[in-house]
Amino acid sequence: MANPQSTIRNRKVAFGDFQTPLELAHEVCRLLKHIGIKPRSFVEPACGTGNFLLAAADAFPHARGIGLEINSEYVSLANSRTAATNLQNRIEIHEGNFFTEDWERRIRNLPAPVLILGNPPWVTNSQQGQIGTVNLPKKSNFPGLAGLEALTGKSNFDISEWMLLRLLEAAQGTNATVAMLCKTAVARKVLLYAAKRSLSIGRPRIYRIDAQRHFGAVVDAGLFFFETGTRSQSVDCGVFSSLTETQSAQSIGIRDGFAIADLEAYNRSKHMIGKSPIPWRSGIKHDCAKILELQKENGIYRNGLNETVELEETFLYPLLKGADLANGRTGEIRRWLLVPQCQVGEDTRHIESIAPLTWNYLQQRREYFDERRSSIYRNQSPFAIFGVGPYSFAPWKVAVSALYKNRLFQAVGPHFDRPVMLDDTCYFYPCRHEQEARDLAAILNSPEATDYFQAFIFPEAKRPITATLLNHLDLGKLTLSR
Ligand SMILES: C[S@@+](CC[C@H](N)C(=O)[O-])C[C@H]1O[C@@H](n2cnc3c(N)ncnc32)[C@H](O)[C@@H]1O
Repeated sequence: MANPQSTIRNRKVAFGDFQTPLELAHEVCRLLKHIGIKPRSFVEPACGTGNFLLAAADAFPHARGIGLEINSEYVSLANSRTAATNLQNRIEIHEGNFFTEDWERRIRNLPAPVLILGNPPWVTNSQQGQIGTVNLPKKSNFPGLAGLEALTGKSNFDISEWMLLRLLEAAQGTNATVAMLCKTAVARKVLLYAAKRSLSIGRPRIYRIDAQRHFGAVVDAGLFFFETGTRSQSVDCGVFSSLTETQSAQSIGIRDGFAIADLEAYNRSKHMIGKSPIPWRSGIKHDCAKILELQKENGIYRNGLNETVELEETFLYPLLKGADLANGRTGEIRRWLLVPQCQVGEDTRHIESIAPLTWNYLQQRREYFDERRSSIYRNQSPFAIFGVGPYSFAPWKVAVSALYKNRLFQAVGPHFDRPVMLDDTCYFYPCRHEQEARDLAAILNSPEATDYFQAFIFPEAKRPITATLLNHLDLGKLTLSR
């Protein structure tokens, strides 16, 4: 029988259910009023228990409001709250699904100017996939979806991203303001999408909030504000450090199809945008650290199950992780990686004849490989790894951690004559010899290259450095400008 606690928790995850504290909703509405928003109607597209509806009714006493919410208990609760505050004649609340709503009609039927406000669900489709629940739009109902997939090349989205894009498209040409709490990464994707589709998005701004304090979520988030009635397609977006800040701390924008974190740095470095001579590579992904990652003490290997392990050296390589690179600990190797394949998809059966101890070690711990949940391991050899190829065995590499904002490119050379492997939190550029790696690392750490990275890197992003960013840096231009 299903555990009721976990059912409730899963439901909360599936519906991205983090109700906005009433005081924060009031603070948002005070800001909107302060910057001159004077709606005749307001709409909360996933209104939960109604905090934004109550706050908007208070801030805009001449406006009428509508709320939509999928959870019937929340609808009842929100209705009883509006009744208790005598707002039932000004606010209508409906049970419904955002994804089947006709938003064009809904927005056009409201008295303008319209304020669309709220806090859409904080959940990604892959989080929903993990708990087996679906609260997603049908692709056919959602024209923006295919475009978004094509744009990002990724299939993991925040549900709020879809909702914001849907509202942006539905409100085009109407006198509407959108003001929604969301991750700042989501706001950037919406700006990018608007630029690519030439959608009008006026006066875009992000006002940062402390998501840890308000929602217990360690994520960079803010109030994303824009207007849809203007013809403006300038997507330079002011970023304010709080809801009460009147001067923007930073201006982000969209240029050449990229989200730009620092427009001045971009102007200084845009001539470096091009194509890397050879692709940057991500380190090895295996999802089986307990078995494949070993520590070596006094010549004895120990795995993540704390077992002492005796193996041939054939498939063992020194390993550095992103944290080692970020902290400059490249000289000291603390881990070794068992690398069962030389390239993706390679059959692993030959290990049995070349290195029988290694083969037995793997076979006896096969359950740990079988437990790997990611679909990439399906229909692969049982000991499959990813991010491996001839480049992994290059003797020298220039490597950088993708996750740390202190961007330090390091020349990494062999250790005990074995090429050093990197984990999948790193990117690296394979080099043939030491001088090539040292020169390249120096160039990449130079002030010119720093400008390029500063232009594109959003330090608060989960993965500030991406393969796209590295692969678009024309190293040739950088060498010439030195
Ligand atoms: C982050 S909570 C915010 C609630 C409310 N907007 C607030 O700010 O307090 C997201 C809300 O979206 C609702 N929701 C999730 N999926 C929805 C859908 N497909 N249609 C309508 N509401 C939905 C959830 O039930 C939840 O109440």
